[in-house]
Amino acid sequence: MTKKVTEDHLYKRTTKRVGLFDSGVGGLSVLRHLVSVTQGEGLEFVYLGDAARCPYGNRAKGEIATFVDEIVSWLTSFQLDSIVMACNTSAAVAKDVAVQAASRQPGLKVYDLIEPTAEWLVANPPKAIGVMSTINTANSKAFSKALVSRGYEGSVQELGCPKLVPLIESGRLGEADCEAALTLALTEYLQVLAGVDALVLGCTHYPFVADRIQSLVSLELKELFPNGLKLIDPAHALAYQLLGHDAAPLAVSTSESSNDYCTEAFRFFTTGNTSDFAQAAALCLGAEIGNLKQLDIAELEAAPQQNFPVANVSIDVATSGSFA
Ligand code: DGL
Repeated sequence: MTKKVTEDHLYKRTTKRVGLFDSGVGGLSVLRHLVSVTQGEGLEFVYLGDAARCPYGNRAKGEIATFVDEIVSWLTSFQLDSIVMACNTSAAVAKDVAVQAASRQPGLKVYDLIEPTAEWLVANPPKAIGVMSTINTANSKAFSKALVSRGYEGSVQELGCPKLVPLIESGRLGEADCEAALTLALTEYLQVLAGVDALVLGCTHYPFVADRIQSLVSLELKELFPNGLKLIDPAHALAYQLLGHDAAPLAVSTSESSNDYCTEAFRFFTTGNTSDFAQAAALCLGAEIGNLKQLDIAELEAAPQQNFPVANVSIDVATSGSFA
């Protein structure tokens, strides 16, 4: 027998439910950071990695806009409080689409990582900022625009780094040839960004290789960054914005504490192969993920048409979109 709850019940609940999406496992770096910042806050998470259509980084903007519309519309069936665009490429080219799709559910907030990061950087301004991101994010100049519109006067260099996402998604992090390819690619990109004193990890996949960047910058490439290099993980500013607190000093932790991602507080979906996704996720997070399901692209494609305003309906908590 299913239990009906009204919208009223939903908004009285104390647990906050957050949806996150990315083209693949990258957004898990945001989830990981949210979990470590909010320990004990009683959050529940729904995560979608659109691995079947990864990478987004060099796709046409219209295509990404369609994916974002589908994904946000699909996520609204989970009665979320917030959606985090844990994919900077999506936020850089289609934030407005996400906001529009989310507006079908009254009160549903959409967060991205670019705005809170720009706010934090303007409050704590480095002299020269480098941004490593996908080609689409770099071409959009979303980070530069967000910084300049908030009054940042230093230099900003945005660089598309397309070789990184396929390596991080490969499920082969830690294997010698994958690590060698990562080192080569990171060296190439860091050489272009020589001289900056802050480096924004402007693609959510990159915090998973922050330790490799840190090690290159403090050893082999040390002379390229004479003033040192501060790594900036945008998930940090986002986590504090989501909680409504002032951001603590921004930092990248290359050794985040490990969490239990197998509890009922987590639901994971991928449009790709579940064992490939689970393997890549475990390598990135250093922990297994539980509650992982495959989601057909066809189900996502149907989402914008099927969606309905939550305010007008009672919600069946036994449907696929519920935790019950
Ligand atoms: N992780 C995503 C981002 O932050 C997308 C990477 C990709 O699919 O190219 O941009």
